Amino acid sequence: MKVLIVGSGGREHAIAASAAKSSRVDKIYCAPGNAGIGELAECVPIGPMEFEKIVAFARENEIDLTIVGMDDPLVGGLVDELEKAGLRVFGPRKNAAILEGSKAFSKDLMKKYNIPTAAYENFESPGEAMAYLEKARFPIVLKADGLALGKGVLICQNLEEAREGVKSIMLDRQFGPAGNKLVIEEFMQGREVSVLSFVDGRTIRTMTSAQDHKRAGDGDTGLNTGGMGTFSPSPFYTAEVDAFCREHIYQPTVDAMAAEGREFKGIIFFGLMLTEEGPKVLEYNARFGDPEAQVVLPRMKNDMIDVMEACIDGRLDEIGLEFEDNAAVCVVLASAGYPVEYEKGFVIRGLDSFKDKEGYYCFHAGTKRVGEDIVTNGGRVLGITAKGRDLMEARTNAYRAAEWVDFDNKYMRHDIGKAIDEA
Ligand code: AMP
Ligand code: GLY
Repeated sequence: MKVLIVGSGGREHAIAASAAKSSRVDKIYCAPGNAGIGELAECVPIGPMEFEKIVAFARENEIDLTIVGMDDPLVGGLVDELEKAGLRVFGPRKNAAILEGSKAFSKDLMKKYNIPTAAYENFESPGEAMAYLEKARFPIVLKADGLALGKGVLICQNLEEAREGVKSIMLDRQFGPAGNKLVIEEFMQGREVSVLSFVDGRTIRTMTSAQDHKRAGDGDTGLNTGGMGTFSPSPFYTAEVDAFCREHIYQPTVDAMAAEGREFKGIIFFGLMLTEEGPKVLEYNARFGDPEAQVVLPRMKNDMIDVMEACIDGRLDEIGLEFEDNAAVCVVLASAGYPVEYEKGFVIRGLDSFKDKEGYYCFHAGTKRVGEDIVTNGGRVLGITAKGRDLMEARTNAYRAAEWVDFDNKYMRHDIGKAIDEA
């Protein structure tokens, strides 16, 4: 079969690598892709928001399955457009992708269906938000309602910071229309875990757990980024936590979406915080996490295409997910200055070191081919993933492999997976 993947990051490279392993896949296209994806797929110069062009391409090339990796096209309704054209597509429709697209929606859903999450209020007026803050307890969390590249969350220590936050989100529109509404939320403490799942509208199958490192600097300092590294599984995600989440979070979320007439098919990513009061939902995403996908997919034993087709056809109940009994760590190699300002266009050396190395992966995020060279083309450049028998070994392997490649302004965190020492 012919598969089209929409997106251009490390996540889409990991999806492409899993698709390439499927015995059923003959040809992979990626719109727009990147230099690394180009080794597995034919990259086509169509942007993820160019819906008409994507639909036309899928029709003309008789694509059997389109996989939408990114949040923007999902929230914007690309799946609906492809379906209208009679094409097969993996991902939630627009009315279900709102689970990620609007934090106010997802908070209201959780409240209505008793799914554990932080206490909150939604605001459409900056004046009312300011008045609420006068009486609030600090720290407190402000969240822009819409998509903001993982950066629309502000943790405010006092009233002054919170007032500044309301101003920048709602008045200065730092995150654009994402700031039309604001969620003000109770500050929670605990360990974070990401659990990704396949959903067919009714049935949910969770994947192995992972943990992301969102801050730019070692020791969780600096600005929030898209993610600087991940490890899987999380040693803090115990059988007890899993049992609680199954009963109170996972299936209830799928059932709530169905009850609202917003049947969810695709990936639900549960961002959880393990608080003293039990696990609570921090956020939902309607897609694979990046870089979570880069540690979870390489450990999955199932044929990913089979699982995606079962989701589309509503027969996920026939499938059991299986993961390797090992661990994986991903260290992101970024451009110094990310997530604020950074230079691009530097030649990447040493990429051949990954050829034929079992258990090692070099997933491309911001890269581009220029003549014979592959050059840096983004803030996050590469995701270096390694497997190991356990987390310690995977971490050692990943950091060793992170030295195989080099480029000017290469930057990485040195403490990805350090939390496992505390487990
Ligand atoms: P989100 O995009 O909602 O996952 O938020 C980004 C990051 O902000 C999360 O990964 C947490 O580290 C932090 N965060 C979000 N909400 C809260 C909260 N209610 N309490 C404490 N930290 C939070
Ligand atoms: N790594 C977090 C995300 O994909 O949203």
